[in-house]
Amino acid sequence: MAKDETLISAIGAVASNGMLGLAGWLPWDIPEELAYFERTVAGAALVIGRLTYESMDVVPEDSFVVSGQSDLVMRPGCTRVASVEEGLRGALATGKPVFVIGGASVYAAAWPYCHRFYLTRIEQAFAGDTLFPDTIPLDHWQLHAEELKLLHENLSNKDVVCRFLQYRQLNPKPVPLVHCNSVSG
Ligand SMILES: NC(=O)c1ccc[n+]([C@@H]2O[C@H](COP(=O)([O-])OP(=O)(O)OC[C@H]3O[C@@H](n4cnc5c(N)ncnc54)[C@H](OP(=O)(O)O)[C@@H]3O)[C@@H](O)[C@H]2O)c1
Repeated sequence: MAKDETLISAIGAVASNGMLGLAGWLPWDIPEELAYFERTVAGAALVIGRLTYESMDVVPEDSFVVSGQSDLVMRPGCTRVASVEEGLRGALATGKPVFVIGGASVYAAAWPYCHRFYLTRIEQAFAGDTLFPDTIPLDHWQLHAEELKLLHENLSNKDVVCRFLQYRQLNPKPVPLVHCNSVSG
């Protein structure tokens, strides 16, 4: 088991129809699920996709925002990185636990490096425009913990079953070191 300061985790929530995003935010409003997310990532260094970053009211320090836009203006404490790997290297260098918090494109690129995936499965379909990537082979990861809760969803004003799962990937890929282009001549 990797020590906490070298541990890379991902965290997210997904509906029963695979949706995880709608119009730049979440398809649901489940305050207790959001509070679980905030508790879990508290004090960590974060790796965040640019769209998810722009949707957040508060972004903690030691956040690494993945974007191809080199002129992106960052909030204090946030660093723009050109790739998920660069973000993971920066986050690991802080010495804090590292969490990849999405969105979909960042999960899709980061999962090979993750030791853990904290995934909340919301047992209800929601309308959305962004799907959880179907390329993440969580079925082959070890299911380490599972907790079921009935939580209130404010948009439908109904209770929904949420399964708080912790998956573990036993042998994630090491984050590659910085690439140096070879110069010939
Ligand atoms: N349910 C959940 O747990 C959860 C978690 C997080 C987000 N979300 C939702 O997911 C949606 C956003 O997800 P998304 O996939 O559309 O966007 P995203 O991953 O948040 O951001 C996409 C942007 O990140 C940059 N990027 C991503 N991968 C990159 C890579 N490999 N190399 C370089 N740049 C990269 C690009 O920025 P540039 O265009 O600047 O180059 C890209 O346009 C929102 O609705 C959000 O609320 C849900």
